[in-house]
Amino acid sequence: MSANLATVSYIGATILFILSLGGLSHPETSRRGNLYGMIGMGIAVLATIFGPRVSPEGYAWIIAALVVGGSIGLYAAKKVKMTEMPELVALMHSFVGLAAALVGFASYIDPSVHLEGAEKAIHQVEIYVGIFIGAVTFSGSLIAFGKLNGKIGGKPLLLPGRHVINLIGLLLVIWFGREFVNAPDVASGMTPLIIMTVIALLFGVHMVMAIGGADMPVVVSMLNSYSGWAASATGFMLGNDLLIVTGALVGSSGAILSYIMCQAMNRNFFSVIAGGFGGGAPKAVGAAGDKEPVGEATPISAQETAELLREAKSVVIVPGYGMAVAQAQHTVNEITKFLRAKGTKVRFAIHPVAGRMPGHMNVLLAEAKVPYDIVLEMDEINEDFPSTDVVMVIGANDIVNPDAQEDPNSPIAGMPVLEVWKAETSIVMKRSMASGYAGVDNPLFYKENNRMLFGDAKKMLDEVLATLKG
Ligand code: TAP
Repeated sequence: MSANLATVSYIGATILFILSLGGLSHPETSRRGNLYGMIGMGIAVLATIFGPRVSPEGYAWIIAALVVGGSIGLYAAKKVKMTEMPELVALMHSFVGLAAALVGFASYIDPSVHLEGAEKAIHQVEIYVGIFIGAVTFSGSLIAFGKLNGKIGGKPLLLPGRHVINLIGLLLVIWFGREFVNAPDVASGMTPLIIMTVIALLFGVHMVMAIGGADMPVVVSMLNSYSGWAASATGFMLGNDLLIVTGALVGSSGAILSYIMCQAMNRNFFSVIAGGFGGGAPKAVGAAGDKEPVGEATPISAQETAELLREAKSVVIVPGYGMAVAQAQHTVNEITKFLRAKGTKVRFAIHPVAGRMPGHMNVLLAEAKVPYDIVLEMDEINEDFPSTDVVMVIGANDIVNPDAQEDPNSPIAGMPVLEVWKAETSIVMKRSMASGYAGVDNPLFYKENNRMLFGDAKKMLDEVLATLKG
């Protein structure tokens, strides 16, 4: 393939990636968006392999790598449960980071590169920055992986003087950067490069360890953004324009998503990055945070739930992580269809951080073919709860916790929540009184107008549906 054809293919792939991002911004166009992305990536890979920079002797290596990597990817994608998707995504981000760091080292020791003067310095800075971003992304994503699958606890690790530690780390990185660029040969440049890599790895671990349970969504999207910048840095090191553009697209869209997440959580972006949020501020004795939930939780049966739903004129369904675990979305759709057919106004309320990844609930509801026009964002529906007869909270917990508004000492204080307790009756479906991801008790369960439907969400909803139909 000629260099010109490769360039044209790259431009085509870039356009497809942009169209892909545009398509992914709405559930109705997301399939098309995915398709554009897949075609774009196919063109990009082919144009790179058959382009002017890969000699035919390399084909065997590339095919072997494609077969091994592709098989692992296919196996992981087929095996992963929907609830494990966020962990898989975090792991994928770590691979991008690792790749960037390895490419950085490879570019540095590449004997075929002979640059001098300013060009050499620029190439070295690209390598240094690329390895730094790659290493931070790699270790940070691995810790996020551990936190998301529960192998590492959700509590933030707050080292004394952590901001000072970060600052010293940053100054050391800059100082070793100077040493690296001034190094007379590859061998002597290796020492500052390796020291910086170790600092960057520790920095990634420290950054994510310092973030508490309820703020993990921001970290996940932030690492998504970092993986984009890491890919972009790889593009600079390899002189590959498409990788630079693609990485920048991922990096900037991830940054925008992080910002949106922060707004949704009512958090300051920089405070989240600095760490220490979401793990529970220390409580003063007698402070509001010490209060025990007042009253008792009132259980309800599936049959009674069906009766309440049958009589209700307006119903709002709030899905959460438990609906994903139970895979209850299809039964939810069946119940929705049944109620709508008899004239009940049914709508869905989606909290921006419901579940374990951005858009988690929208994906599940779309999969079950729930009509998009009755699926509303938190801001669109929060004011409607006082005029709602029945709210069904399906496996959600933190996102409907009134303490976020009422208890300034709560770890989730200030996070906007769905005000389900304002409805005439709320029914919370979950298996026990256990807390959610943020690990805090939920006073909603003890409110007078709340009922608890204990059990697996799918099993209970099947019973509710059977009663409704019977
Ligand atoms: P959670 O607060 O985690 O609550 C989910 C509830 O579902 C649990 O209390 C659990 O109670 C219940 N549950 C689990 N399996 C169930 C089953 N089979 N049937 C019925 N119920 C089941 O979830 P949420 O309300 O969706 O809030 C999301 C939380 O995750 C927030 O804290 C958010 O910050 C965090 N987070 C979000 C993201 C993104 S990007 N969305 C990423 C990382 C973290 P039982 O054990 O009693 O059943």
